[in-house]
Amino acid sequence: MRIPKARGELSEALAAALHEGTPTAALTAVPATDDADRHLSLWTLYELSYRGFDDVDDELEWQPELLALRRTLERRFEAELREWFSPPELGGPFADALFELIGNDDGASVATFVQREATLDQTLELLRYRTIYHLKEADPTAWVVPRLTTGPKAALMELQYDEYGCGDPNRLHSHLFVRGLDAAGLRSDYGAYVDDVPVEVLMQNNAMTLFGLHRRLRGAALGHLAAFEATSSLPSRRMAQGLGRLGLPAEMIAYYQEHIEADAVHEQLAVRTICGALVHEEPAQAAEVAFGALTCLGLEDRFARRMLADWGAAA
Ligand SMILES: [Fe+2]
Ligand SMILES: [Fe+2]
Repeated sequence: MRIPKARGELSEALAAALHEGTPTAALTAVPATDDADRHLSLWTLYELSYRGFDDVDDELEWQPELLALRRTLERRFEAELREWFSPPELGGPFADALFELIGNDDGASVATFVQREATLDQTLELLRYRTIYHLKEADPTAWVVPRLTTGPKAALMELQYDEYGCGDPNRLHSHLFVRGLDAAGLRSDYGAYVDDVPVEVLMQNNAMTLFGLHRRLRGAALGHLAAFEATSSLPSRRMAQGLGRLGLPAEMIAYYQEHIEADAVHEQLAVRTICGALVHEEPAQAAEVAFGALTCLGLEDRFARRMLADWGAAA
């Protein structure tokens, strides 16, 4: 992947610094033009810790000036997330309370729209935007594994093992999506569509990486995972039906069909066995788990509202 196209002053300065390999402290003082500029900059910095860029020296992943900029951007983003998605106190058995919190979500749904009325162009647009996460599916959560104690670690690995194909490269969820994209005539190379995605997609991906990269935020990372898995099975069924209605290839439908079954299991695993075990071992993490869950639901709602508004559909 190449450095993405700049969206403002900060991402422009960052791209130049990455390209030349000489970031300085002055970078932190460059004002972001807007949210898209700010989130693209953070996304770009985060990618140095995933697959990097063809035109950037791998050494820069741990360059102190870039880490200082990343920290500045992260602080503001985390403060915003905590303001937007402040959870209520959960009472009673934790897993039941977490299921209830997630079940009370009435956010907008792109899957319902795809199932019933989206056009082929709208659906292909959605699939292009989904590549930013699905091509690194489960990766942001993998950062969390070494930070957990025995119970939640074993449970998380059970779920991750499944996401990563149980040892079979052809069953890796990100690879199932690659096969779907190829069959649908879309690009399947990592990050291919980052220049096209709306800021809401960058925010969703940045939240997952923020939670994954900071040990302090392990509870939020697992709460995010729980909400993601618990709101995936039914929408995946709707997506599969919508893709079938539009005549999209079987490989693309297969990705969603896999998630109807898998995520019905994963939601129990994530909510009860992973988050339940975490809170049992670390009770102080309960509020953080709830915060992570609300962040997942809230950012998906923002994305869905944006898409439905762009498509002239009612939320
Ligand atoms: Fe998956
Ligand atoms: Fe899953």
